[in-house]
Amino acid sequence: DFDVFDISEDFGFLLEEPLVGFTLIFSLLMMQCSHLRRILFCHILDKSKQMPVLSPDLLSDHRELRLAHLALGFISMGYVWQEGQHAPILPKALALPFWLVSRRLGLPPILTYADSVLANWKLKDPTGNMDLIFSFPGGDTCRGFFIVSLLVEMAASPVMHAIKVSNLTGIKNGLIKVTQSLKKMKEKFKFMHNHVEPAAFHGKLRIFVSGWRDNPMLPRGVLYEGVSDEPILLSGGSAAQSSAIQCFDALLCIKHEEETAFLTRMRDYMPPAHRQLIETLSACPPLRDFILSCSNSDLCQAYNSCVSALVDLRNYHLNTVTKYVIIPGNYAQSVGCPFRGVGTALNTTGTGGSNLMVFLKSVRNTTQKALILER
Ligand code: HEM
Ligand code: ALA
Repeated sequence: DFDVFDISEDFGFLLEEPLVGFTLIFSLLMMQCSHLRRILFCHILDKSKQMPVLSPDLLSDHRELRLAHLALGFISMGYVWQEGQHAPILPKALALPFWLVSRRLGLPPILTYADSVLANWKLKDPTGNMDLIFSFPGGDTCRGFFIVSLLVEMAASPVMHAIKVSNLTGIKNGLIKVTQSLKKMKEKFKFMHNHVEPAAFHGKLRIFVSGWRDNPMLPRGVLYEGVSDEPILLSGGSAAQSSAIQCFDALLCIKHEEETAFLTRMRDYMPPAHRQLIETLSACPPLRDFILSCSNSDLCQAYNSCVSALVDLRNYHLNTVTKYVIIPGNYAQSVGCPFRGVGTALNTTGTGGSNLMVFLKSVRNTTQKALILER
């Protein structure tokens, strides 16, 4: 049954035609979200405390639930990180519906990559240009960051669909298709530099995708009022929650030793159907062993090209992280940590909570080690 993975032919892991509005019950929330930037600056977010507690019982369609999760995710991040202060308590009016919607989707009650990227798009015009449904502060940089991530994800869509329907028409041909996708993903990734400005990314946007696990700003997590008496620890949004790269790792049998714990935990932040595809691929007979046993040099080469393209993408990603996280972080340190944004708190930690450079380099190195050496 191919539909269990919920991958669209044209859009891959993206949510197809996300809803952009609710009828009646959740429209109050939509209004709050649409005005998020304004709200943040005049503390109207405090009104969240007086909001009626919305009941998600009437939401039924998957896309309705995804829109609710997206909206509650945006408003909750805005609430927790407003004005650079951190509120360790999420009021019941947000916490309870977020909890209930999350439970129905099998997603955690925090803004995930599946929300801010996969379900946060609409067509701007009939030519197919995409725009966001919701934005954080950071203007064009915020829009650029999420839209470019979306374009990278879309570049993987055709091959993800082919993998899903087991239509790679032979191993060698399949590997060639994966290589092409990885190269296309890197091409799209390059747009980051035209649309995302490092100071705005670091100083304005980054805090709003940060979470409350492995984050020194909220070491004990956030209390979800009306849900639990203890604070809850949850990782922030990160493309580490994208299913595409983890699917490629599984397919190519790239096993990240110490990093496995973090990457596996990130699967809890993916829609369950997408998580299932990674797990199904991981359980397949190992492709790399099969290729080794064939000693067919064309096949080896096709595999190695694929691994090289993945190393190349990970290297490109590392350089991007230096530009958008390390350099602005060092600058914030040198000028004594401005009060807005993440300041220096996340200089060595990703928004997903990893020990970023150590983690990313190690993942890149393990990928490299999968190359099959000529005998
Ligand atoms: C992981 C930063 C864009 C894919 C990470 C991590 C950081 C990071 C810090 C470590 C995990 C964590 O969050 O704790 C950035 C920055 C970006 C960016 C600053 C742009 C300005 C992207 C894009 C993709 C991507 C567009 C799409 C392919 C990944 C993946 C991981 C990751 C797959 C997990 C590690 C791996 O499998 O190699 N990113 N990222 N990132 N990122 Fe990005
Ligand atoms: N995961 C990215 C970061 O840590 C967004 O900045």
